[in-house]
Amino acid sequence: MADYPGRWKTVEVVVEDGIAWVSLNRPEKRNAMSPTLNREMIDVLETLELDQDAQVLVLTGAGDSWSAGMDLKEYFRETDGQPDVYQERMRRDCSQWQWKLLRFYTKATIAMVNGWCFGGAFSPLVACDLAIAADDAVFGLSEINWGIPPGNLVSKAVADTMGHRQALYYIMTGETFTGAQAAQMGLVNKSVPRALLRGEVQTLAAKLLQKNPVVLRFAKHGFKRCRELTWDQNEDYLYAKIDQSNGRDPEQGRAKGLAQFLDEKSIKPGLQTYKR
Ligand code: COA
Repeated sequence: MADYPGRWKTVEVVVEDGIAWVSLNRPEKRNAMSPTLNREMIDVLETLELDQDAQVLVLTGAGDSWSAGMDLKEYFRETDGQPDVYQERMRRDCSQWQWKLLRFYTKATIAMVNGWCFGGAFSPLVACDLAIAADDAVFGLSEINWGIPPGNLVSKAVADTMGHRQALYYIMTGETFTGAQAAQMGLVNKSVPRALLRGEVQTLAAKLLQKNPVVLRFAKHGFKRCRELTWDQNEDYLYAKIDQSNGRDPEQGRAKGLAQFLDEKSIKPGLQTYKR
């Protein structure tokens, strides 16, 4: 087991049994994302990328909140009137971890939504590959309630996951919805009673840990990119991903998988993963 005690002020990281548990750690501010937290999260993600002990990353929040979104004081009010370049840099930090790094992260990612999830928090939520929420977690696109339209990539993220009518309904009313409703809408994969949340995430992570990590990476990257490409581009791109995966995979999973099914007859890939 490796961990990083006290390395970051606003984020806690514990690596255990292949899983990096990354907790946004400002419970007294409901884990609102401040400029400091955004900077630190870039470092956290870049650090964990090189940590061989961390193969699946779980993003969660300390206390009773996943994240109350962007920090209305430190990210908005205190930076009003700062030079234009300062604003640019602050926004870049924000997108850098919440979207660019997380969305195409080299390892599998799971959002474990343990409580409040508002506004800007929808960006990292959707950027994670998979998401599991507590039934009673509370979600809200609250921007309209305090006077701005959703920014960053929030609207794009909900358009991609929630469906047109649902997304607009919550963007325009600012009403909240629960983890159970989020699961029905497809914003998260499933919701479970709060007491079972960590166990559920651990079980899912264990499943992912059995898979070949290189193939897993190219499979998820291929899927995410293919939503933005034409059919012809997709065909080329996804074949290129297969070739890249074959070329980069040190354990040569494809050859093993084929041999175990076709020659040894020891697995049924329709039902189980090959023996690594
Ligand atoms: N930005 C900055 N500070 C925040 C915050 C945010 N997004 N969300 C909560 N906080 C702070 C509060 O200001 C308060 O600070 P204080 O103790 O110094 O007064 C502290 O966190 C606790 O918040 P409080 O409102 O008392 O907690 P609660 O448990 O009663 O309510 C929420 C939780 C999440 C419902 C409520 O804090 C809230 O509505 N937050 C704003 C959510 C939002 O609109 N986010 C969108 C941002 S894009």
